[in-house]
Amino acid sequence: MTAAIQTDNEIIRAEGLVKRYGGNLAVNGVDLTVYAGEIFGILGPNGAGKTTTLEMIEGLRQPDAGSIVVAGMDSASHSASIRSQIGVQLQTTALFDYLTAGELIQLFASLYETPDPAGRVERLLGRVGLLEKKNSRVDQMSGGQQQRLSIALGLVNDPKVAFLDEPTTGLDPAARRDLWETVREIRDAGTTVVLTTHYMEEAEYLCDRVAIMDGGRIIALDTPRALIRSLGASATISANMEGRVPDERVLASLQDVVTVRVRDNAIDLGTTNVQASLVALLDLASRESITLTDLRSSQPTLEDVFLALTGRSFEPDTGDNGEAADPAPGRSRRRRR
Ligand SMILES: Nc1ncnc2c1ncn2[C@@H]1O[C@H](COP(=O)(O)OP(=O)(O)O)[C@@H](O)[C@H]1O
Ligand SMILES: [Mg+2]
Repeated sequence: MTAAIQTDNEIIRAEGLVKRYGGNLAVNGVDLTVYAGEIFGILGPNGAGKTTTLEMIEGLRQPDAGSIVVAGMDSASHSASIRSQIGVQLQTTALFDYLTAGELIQLFASLYETPDPAGRVERLLGRVGLLEKKNSRVDQMSGGQQQRLSIALGLVNDPKVAFLDEPTTGLDPAARRDLWETVREIRDAGTTVVLTTHYMEEAEYLCDRVAIMDGGRIIALDTPRALIRSLGASATISANMEGRVPDERVLASLQDVVTVRVRDNAIDLGTTNVQASLVALLDLASRESITLTDLRSSQPTLEDVFLALTGRSFEPDTGDNGEAADPAPGRSRRRRR
């Protein structure tokens, strides 16, 4: 269940954030508010400005303009106090391979001037589902376990807000789903979570609210459900067209079609009336002697929202730092829920 969003309980407010790298406007006027107790996602393609935004809020990068208030404190004057109240997940590559999970947690805890309560190691490992790995070395853990350990390290100071930058990138689908459950449990235990992702499905499934970023700006911000509803489409009709694919304008003019996407021979039509659009599509196909295969309809997704807002689609398997193509969400648009 999604936690109720309490809009009177804001924990982060960023206004007018700008960051330039030379002539490149990496972040170009970002405003966002995060409420206590939610999972807030920043979703966007590579280079959108997600990490830069996150790191400015964390206090790791200095904005060129704008203001940030975290837990009631202005970041310009209270960065040290803010740091004691937030948790930042490190990249797993930065972990020490030869220490055990338990030793790493004790090491990180020693960096904070907090008392060392008995059972901290077990409690933290329990929160991320790694209790049985307490005595395992980092290099003996799977990628997903290492990610969960790095999240536990970010929780060592019992932060009000935990920041996770692309926590599931590089994980296989099963490990990704495990991590989603871990993130939910962290939220349910009272820690606000701010994460970035370029996986549409992850943002849709996991986040209470999502800011969609593109080109340094937030182009939409709401609950996934409201973002999808704003499309005005009730479903997406997908098919492969054997033979000639008609012009996008022809597809867009079909009865009740509101969005069109064409990739090679595959088409996705957002529609407000599946039945009427389907009849029109079948009629067009028969007039033009096009064979439709793999015809299906599905609920619209955040992918459709991004397409409607930008005219482009972005896929998990494009330009992911040269990493292997994501095996899961890219091809199939259908629900797994
Ligand atoms: N340290 C840096 N120096 C110069 N350019 C940077 C630096 N960090 C990010 N950028 C650029 O800023 C833009 C936004 O990057 P980033 O915030 O990492 O995006 P995302 O996390 O969404 O992939 C990109 O064009 C990127 O190349
Ligand atoms: Mg990034």
